Amino acid sequence: MTNGSAIQVRGLRKVFPGGVEAVAGVDFDVWPGEVFSLLGPNGAGKSTAIGMLTGTVAPTGGSARLAGFDVAT
Ligand SMILES: Nc1ncnc2c1ncn2[C@@H]1O[C@H](COP(=O)(O)OP(=O)(O)OP(=O)(O)O)[C@@H](O)[C@H]1O
Ligand SMILES: [Mg+2]
Repeated sequence: MTNGSAIQVRGLRKVFPGGVEAVAGVDFDVWPGEVFSLLGPNGAGKSTAIGMLTGTVAPTGGSARLAGFDVAT
């Protein structure tokens, strides 16, 4: 289960076919009621990270839970 966070991300990683490591293992929590910003330069992996949270990109590794539900399952 979760630690009470709305979004719990641990070691989340994405390597696209071809070998680009778009997300290199990130950890963060978003707490209920919190406004959270994901900032970074072009190509940093923001959209890929959000895609993994919304189910459009399959993670290579790590985990993400939304309200306790693992996005992988
Ligand atoms: N479908 C894909 N196949 C292969 N490589 C990809 C794919 N999508 C993104 N990438 C690569 O992954 C890296 C991260 O891209 P991403 O789009 O997640 O970055 P971003 O932080 O959202 O950038 P931007 O600020 O330009 O929107 C980049 O090197 C990008 O070229
Ligand atoms: Mg983007």
